[in-house]
Amino acid sequence: MQPFRGLILGTRFLCPKALGLTSFPAPQAWISTCGLDSGASVEGDAGCKGSLEAFQAKLATGPSLQQFLQGATHPVQETHRLPTEAEETSASYLDPSTFAGSPGKVYLETYGCQMNVNDTEIAWSILQRSGYQRTTRLEEADVILLVTCSIREKAEQTIWNRLKHLKTLKLKRPASQGALRIGILGCMAERLKEKILDRERLVDIVAGPDSYRDLPRLLAVAESGQQAANVLLSLEETYADILPVQTNPSATSAFVSIMRGCDNMCSYCIVPFTRGRERSRPIASILQEVQMLSDQGVKEVTLLGQNVNSYRDVSEVQFLLSVPSHLSRGFSTIYRPKQGGLRFAELLDRVSAIDPEMRIRFTSPHPKDFPDEVFQLMKERHNICKQLHLPVQSGSSRILEAMRRGYTREAYLELVHHVRDSLPGVTLGSDIIAGFCGETEADHQQTVSLVREVGYRTAFIFAYSERQKTRAFHRLKDDVPLDVKRRRVTELTDVFREGASQANAAAVGQMQVVLVEGPSKRSALELSGRNDGNIKVIFPDVKMDDGTGSGSTVHAQPGDYVLVKISSANSQTLKGIPLRRTTLRESAALC
Ligand code: 5AD
Ligand code: SF4
Repeated sequence: MQPFRGLILGTRFLCPKALGLTSFPAPQAWISTCGLDSGASVEGDAGCKGSLEAFQAKLATGPSLQQFLQGATHPVQETHRLPTEAEETSASYLDPSTFAGSPGKVYLETYGCQMNVNDTEIAWSILQRSGYQRTTRLEEADVILLVTCSIREKAEQTIWNRLKHLKTLKLKRPASQGALRIGILGCMAERLKEKILDRERLVDIVAGPDSYRDLPRLLAVAESGQQAANVLLSLEETYADILPVQTNPSATSAFVSIMRGCDNMCSYCIVPFTRGRERSRPIASILQEVQMLSDQGVKEVTLLGQNVNSYRDVSEVQFLLSVPSHLSRGFSTIYRPKQGGLRFAELLDRVSAIDPEMRIRFTSPHPKDFPDEVFQLMKERHNICKQLHLPVQSGSSRILEAMRRGYTREAYLELVHHVRDSLPGVTLGSDIIAGFCGETEADHQQTVSLVREVGYRTAFIFAYSERQKTRAFHRLKDDVPLDVKRRRVTELTDVFREGASQANAAAVGQMQVVLVEGPSKRSALELSGRNDGNIKVIFPDVKMDDGTGSGSTVHAQPGDYVLVKISSANSQTLKGIPLRRTTLRESAALC
């Protein structure tokens, strides 16, 4: 017997039994509500019955084709405006109260990258609207949701191990408290889909990165004792209208998601399969969120996306008329050049103009999408940090080709020189993969020499981990033994540290502006913050000139900018002596 799966239209669900369908085309993704495995039980069918009747009643008056089409994807919207909450609910064919369930306390746990932190905030924002409360205590949770990562095998293994622990928690829970519901969200949900529910029978819901709006419904289904999943990938979901609830409301910094997905298809990477096609959030909603953060006193915003500088807002007709964009010299893509749309330089311009006292960063960019306008703007605006993450992945042109990165070692290094000429003092960071398919010792040495030549200040160095579905999985051989991969990671890390230590040592004696984050982890007598290059700076928490010219002295607080004279350094941290409080505008003239 085939697994009993729902049929998806847009993001709405129709039970195929209710439609009288016995077979239906394989959907792009699926939702299941009634007994997932081949042994779909009698209980499963019985559990479906109540909701079946409700669905049948709804279907008697049935939705129009138009109503379903509302959920379909539109490559270009003529105008963009945030829907009101009332519009959002009235647009649904099925009354949301059908799926209300009984909200309880949710415990959210995040794994992986900053995108997942942002996804957690979005998921929480959606659940909060549905009446859920948040808890930071695992033991008192009614719902436990893990926002997962699939990028390397190890990341997934961590989740499987965590599930073993949660399983015990679920089994121990007294019946009087009702069932504990466990959900897998994000990339691992998207990659493994129903396999998670088959393998871990105690997982109740599975929700891919584009289905967080469906969480209240999925949880309501789970409450009736059935497993439920929605892993539909969207061409347009950017959660533009969902204001993420910041995990730490008193934080001085915030991340603002500006685009989702990736079209690059690097041969090793699972992301295009788990997060879907590249799409950009309309500029109006980004500006609105940054303005709101500025009003709340947030002092640093990092624009976030899988390929942040590939941003291309096509939500308004007039944006389509903009001049075509150019790739960085010597770079290519596997897809045809994209035309039109409002580009990253324009977005950066508008975002950085909102609040001159708010620092702007962005991550992660792809080295291919760096027109000169971006560097020009970074140079001109004192509040755009002179810091770039430029993932190189390998220093060997042969391996870069196998990785389908769209550039050679020489083109990458030319870009680095161009960046350094355009932005003197810029700090550079990178991602590097060691031991990719076919990587010889000579290829590895090319990466070592590139790391030495560039002198990165931050680097994330990974051993290659083969991922199913990727081009490398299908076409190449994962032939570098694990111990060799590990040795190469260690060698690269050592060379990187050497370079970072030298660069940081060169900062001794400089005056730098530090945005205070709070007390240092090591000592309550010290404060910790970040300089323009995003390097951690520690300095004593002593009284200093308040910077107003009044002669008063103060202790610096989180969110203050402090002028610090750097006195010592290692590969990761700088230490210094605080001189006085300052502002970005004032310090731009000084440093
Ligand atoms: N194995 C190891 N590292 C990977 N990355 C992406 N896919 C893999 C993989 N299969 C790394 C890349 C990317 C970062 C986010 O993760 O360096 O830039
Ligand atoms: Fe993965 Fe490449 Fe896309 Fe980055 S650019 S998310 S490495 S496919």
